[in-house]
Amino acid sequence: MARGAIVTGAASGLGNALAKLLVDRGDSVVGIDLAGADRQAKVESTGASFVACDVTSIENWHTAARSASSLLDSIDIVFLNAGVMTRSPSQPIDDDPVALATDDGYRKVFAVNVDGVIFGATALAPLLAASGSITVTASTAALGALPFDPYYAATKHAVAGYVKSLGAVFAARGQRINALCPGGIDTNIVPDPLRSSMPATTFRPPHDVARALIAVSESSGSGLLYTLTDDANFIARVD
Ligand SMILES: NC(=O)c1ccc[n+]([C@@H]2O[C@H](COP(=O)([O-])OP(=O)(O)OC[C@H]3O[C@@H](n4cnc5c(N)ncnc54)[C@H](O)[C@@H]3O)[C@@H](O)[C@H]2O)c1
Repeated sequence: MARGAIVTGAASGLGNALAKLLVDRGDSVVGIDLAGADRQAKVESTGASFVACDVTSIENWHTAARSASSLLDSIDIVFLNAGVMTRSPSQPIDDDPVALATDDGYRKVFAVNVDGVIFGATALAPLLAASGSITVTASTAALGALPFDPYYAATKHAVAGYVKSLGAVFAARGQRINALCPGGIDTNIVPDPLRSSMPATTFRPPHDVARALIAVSESSGSGLLYTLTDDANFIARVD
């Protein structure tokens, strides 16, 4: 029987590459993203089924969880991957980051990156298969400083703490929750000024990071953070 997978943020970047990789491996995949014909077409182009959900809303999450459950035989692997940065990609990154806290962007980055993960895990944990796993896309910003976007860094530290704290709870049920902390990936979220100031090789192809997310989902521990490697293992633990 095909494994059932759920990927949030599946209309773009890393989530889209991950949905395609999972479909290519023979998994049944539900791709979650904000409503919209373009996003639906992007998700469906991977071979995944589309479920619209604003991950910042727990009500949306409960509805989406029921829809995903009806589309999949079982929910075996969940990737809580949707995320945003505080500024839009085209905004400068050399403005005062302290002043950014008054912007809507501050609330939004916490809503998507923190509520989106916690509400997703809350809605999906009761439906997760007996040996199922949840994998969160964190960031190297969960492990250190990101001076141009301290709010983004705070959200990634928050979800890293959530994952580490729930590791034993999931393990006691035979399930797992872990996070991957990637560095730069070549996707739309990357600020334009950052992209143009750094060598293109700074940003990994989404496909490579998607492989690492699958490796995390198949790893044996729970409550662990991982980074990417360049070897065949794809991932290494952050201790
Ligand atoms: N690109 C990088 O350099 C990088 C590095 C480390 C971690 N990450 C993380 O990778 C994850 C994926 O981001 P990406 O780089 O593919 O960016 P992206 O902008 O290409 O994709 C993000 C997706 O999330 C969706 N999304 C945003 N708000 C949503 C909401 N409220 N409800 C549902 N979906 C929503 C968007 O529509 C989009 O499809 C994020 O968690 C991001 O923080 C990215």
